[in-house]
Amino acid sequence: MARMGMAGAICAAVLAAAASAVAAQPAQPWRNPKLSPDRRAELLLNRMSLDEQLALLHGHMPVLMKTAPPGVIRSAGWIPGQAKYGIPAQAESDASLGVANAGRGDGDDAAPLPSGLALASTFSPALAFEGGAMIGREARRKGFNVLLAGGANLARDPRNGRNFEYLGEDPLLGGLLDAASIRGIQSNHIVSTAKHYVLNDQETGRQVLSAEIGEAALRESDLLAFEIAIKDGHPGSVMCSYNRLHGTFACENRFLLTDVLKRDWGYPGYVMSDWGAVHSLASAKAGLDQESGAEIDKQVFFDAPLRSAVKDGEIPAGAVRQMAHRVLRSLFAEGVYDHPLAPGGLDTQADSLVAQRVAEQGMVLLKNDGGVLPLAARAGRIALIGGHADVGVLSGGGSSQVVPTGSYKIPPPKGAPAWGGGIVYHPSAPLAAIRRRAKGQVDYADGSDPAAAAALAKQADVAVVFVTQWNSEGVDGPLQLEHGQDDLIEAVAAANPHTVVVLETGNPVLMPWIGKVQAVLEAWYPGARGGETIAKVLFGEVDASGRLPISFPQSEAQLPRPELPGLRNAKPEGATTAQSEPPFDIDYLEGSDVGYRWYAAKRLKPLFPFGYGLSFTHFGYGRLTATGGAGASVSFTLTNKGTRSGTETPQLYLVRGPHRAQQRLLAFTRVTLKPGETRRISLAADPRLLADWDEKSHAWRRDAGRYEVFVGPNAADQALKGEVTLAAATAAP
Ligand code: BGC
Repeated sequence: MARMGMAGAICAAVLAAAASAVAAQPAQPWRNPKLSPDRRAELLLNRMSLDEQLALLHGHMPVLMKTAPPGVIRSAGWIPGQAKYGIPAQAESDASLGVANAGRGDGDDAAPLPSGLALASTFSPALAFEGGAMIGREARRKGFNVLLAGGANLARDPRNGRNFEYLGEDPLLGGLLDAASIRGIQSNHIVSTAKHYVLNDQETGRQVLSAEIGEAALRESDLLAFEIAIKDGHPGSVMCSYNRLHGTFACENRFLLTDVLKRDWGYPGYVMSDWGAVHSLASAKAGLDQESGAEIDKQVFFDAPLRSAVKDGEIPAGAVRQMAHRVLRSLFAEGVYDHPLAPGGLDTQADSLVAQRVAEQGMVLLKNDGGVLPLAARAGRIALIGGHADVGVLSGGGSSQVVPTGSYKIPPPKGAPAWGGGIVYHPSAPLAAIRRRAKGQVDYADGSDPAAAAALAKQADVAVVFVTQWNSEGVDGPLQLEHGQDDLIEAVAAANPHTVVVLETGNPVLMPWIGKVQAVLEAWYPGARGGETIAKVLFGEVDASGRLPISFPQSEAQLPRPELPGLRNAKPEGATTAQSEPPFDIDYLEGSDVGYRWYAAKRLKPLFPFGYGLSFTHFGYGRLTATGGAGASVSFTLTNKGTRSGTETPQLYLVRGPHRAQQRLLAFTRVTLKPGETRRISLAADPRLLADWDEKSHAWRRDAGRYEVFVGPNAADQALKGEVTLAAATAAP
């Protein structure tokens, strides 16, 4: 000590203290779950080289790998882990309606939910959460921690081949349900996307089309659905879409990725591309963080080219770090980092009951003359016809395809996209389920011969015709029923006055025979236990309680674009991205007036309006009071006027603001009432739907004044009209 001197002693003490502080610090401080996800990402990135960061930014496509590394599951995407940092591999699976498994062969079971439109027909965020939680649970057990789910594209066109994966035409309904489903998935410590951001609203030309729409209209429609889904659902990732907006690819679009998503909405997660949607490094500059399925892009842009761009000073190293930060942040925030996957067996039987609950509440009774349904009340012979009702229920095709064990497949039509090897019928046969319930004999004809079907129907007390319309990713579908099914219905209806039609369709269809049949049930693609559920609804074991999340047109002439844009040059696509079609623009002339808003603005009467659906009982609306001021709310009485318990979905709409007529769904709820029961219901308008986007002030603006509203059972039935006076309000984007 003497020789060291005082200064030396202090210095030694400081060094010793510092050394012991280092020793006390964990070697990998980002492992501390008490730190914020951002802090953890920072600490980890401080140790990572540029190459290690770049490795987080591009994914491989196991289904295309000649030899997949051990442990890699054949699925849509995979990003290797980095064991020395404890970063798990990102194992990605499609999961819009269940854990997709097309291409992995038989025995890879999973429970398929009903289609997105069926889920949206429930108007139930609680069920959307339950469905998402079920998918997430199965995904973890199967070894996936990133799910390509959360489809939030608006149904701008009822012919869009992927509407069955999405949640209908309304931004509030779709956004709230998408948020709930994302929260459900992520409750399993895995990441979900919200996809496809944005305006991939038809499949025809999806790689080349340019959407043309003004900013305010976009913010009030498609972007609003995503805004609600993202702000309320907190997905770890957002997938940008194939199409262009005003000529610029969505995955290279600074306005969409940086200005709106990251700046205006403050989104902290990462943007991944759709598969084959990256065309250049412009995407890195515009706000894309991760290139997916890089094998199918022209180059793996987010590998060597991005490294060179950093070396050349074209892209700052800090930008790459930011991209990697967003990926890591989501892995920390959603628990992917802290909760390693624990693969194990699935209980698809139990999980299928979740699918059944969605189907029960999502089937929509469109017509029921003379109370032909429920069938339980009728004895006698039933003729079941068509739709492969003897083997199962139809599902939609494409990357979302779930193939449960025991599925029945038929070859897809010529020219259909090359996914999944067939048209999949989930093994839940309506015929068996109906036979179990019927009091009398149940006969079946496959419907291939309308005359034979009519002869069978003639001998029966009731005829139930099952019609199917297959929709798939990669191709849009006609509104007319295919394969002569209109003629089949006509023939059966001519033979039996008590004809019931059950639709298993991915989209609305035209119904030239509607006046000739007694009942129509829209069962959508009803999922794992669809046959059982159809029987339950037909026999009235549960009320018919679904309500349409999409308008059914009378004909194409009622649509904003009677002819589907790009159809003439269309080439069916496979999973890859052959861009052989000429680019074209779509003028979204309807602006934010999508679906029911368009019908209202043009004073058109659809075949069935948004929000519509019958119950086996009927309801009365009364005594509306409406309150304005800082927000709009209403209360009213709802009475079950029938003799059985039933469920109604009252809806609150705006019809006119201070300046113009504009219909918008503001609130909704599901209410179950006993026979004769009356309940007072309150609904508060979601403030996001009362404001307009003001491009000048770059903010949401609600002007002071009088707002006309109504409460009713659907978008076209103004059961109770009211008016509120609202104060002015503005809100940041
Ligand atoms: C689809 C996405 C899907 C991806 C991976 C794309 O073709 O548009 O929805 O997640 O493929 O399969």
